[in-house]
Amino acid sequence: MNRMQHTVALITGAAGGMGRAHCRRLAEEGADIIALDIEAAAVELAETAREVESLGRYCVTGVADVRDQASLDVAVADGVAALGRLDVIVANAGIYTDLGLSWELSDQAWQRTIDINLTGMWHTVRAAVPALSDGGSVVIVSSTNGIVGAAAAAHYSASKHAVVGLARTLANELGPRGIRVNTVHPGSVATPMILNDAVYAKLCPDLPNPTQQDAADALARRTILPVAWVDPVDISNAVLFLASDESRYVTGIQLVVDAGLTQKV
Ligand SMILES: NC(=O)c1ccc[n+]([C@@H]2O[C@H](COP(=O)([O-])OP(=O)(O)OC[C@H]3O[C@@H](n4cnc5c(N)ncnc54)[C@H](O)[C@@H]3O)[C@@H](O)[C@H]2O)c1
Repeated sequence: MNRMQHTVALITGAAGGMGRAHCRRLAEEGADIIALDIEAAAVELAETAREVESLGRYCVTGVADVRDQASLDVAVADGVAALGRLDVIVANAGIYTDLGLSWELSDQAWQRTIDINLTGMWHTVRAAVPALSDGGSVVIVSSTNGIVGAAAAAHYSASKHAVVGLARTLANELGPRGIRVNTVHPGSVATPMILNDAVYAKLCPDLPNPTQQDAADALARRTILPVAWVDPVDISNAVLFLASDESRYVTGIQLVVDAGLTQKV
């Protein structure tokens, strides 16, 4: 209950599936939360704040598109001013859209994914690291697609590999201040990002109108453990470990939570 007592955590993409779960899980352990997301997600972001506050913690929300450095700078500054400090950064916001073979991706699809999933992570740390307490923790959300490639997602996989380089560099830069920097690599997680028709079609190219169950069957064949996807809280527990002092000498690593997806032979 108290693993994050007296800390403040900043989370991007906080209105969505995993981002909201990270807010809730860290708040359960005593953290106050700065929860950021885009304008279009304002209603869901308010729900995240309500859930954090129902746990007895403070939650400051802010509108920030991670592509826009200025909006992030303002939202981070407002959050830190309101809550008085910053101990944890969870750079979580990301997209998985416009899937297609590498040589068929449009310039726009490529650029949008790189802008949000890679440059957005850099913008987030650029806005927040100057306010981060010594001894703090940075968690960057990558993917199993940041460990292995996946057909029809070159833009996504390139962005998720690239953030590992960002994290390893930051780990070296921030280590002298006792700040740790690590990446988390979820496999399939039950959030709107993968629970949609476009992803079902990618997973089941031979079926005309694949259902969620068809997609689950396809994904379950890829994992060692007998599950199609994990729950958001399973990733939040990994984030919590890396955010807390329990991982105080863990830095520069890639923590994979994927039910064995990347290890299956
Ligand atoms: N769901 C999965 O299976 C899965 C697997 C591996 C990695 N991931 C990664 O986990 C992270 C969270 O994914 P999720 O499944 O919760 O996705 P989601 O689509 O449920 O939520 C993503 C959140 O990011 C926000 N967002 C989108 N564009 C943004 C922008 N430009 N600026 C700020 N916020 C923006 C959305 O509004 C949303 O709240 C992402 O980085 C994703 O790539 C997801």
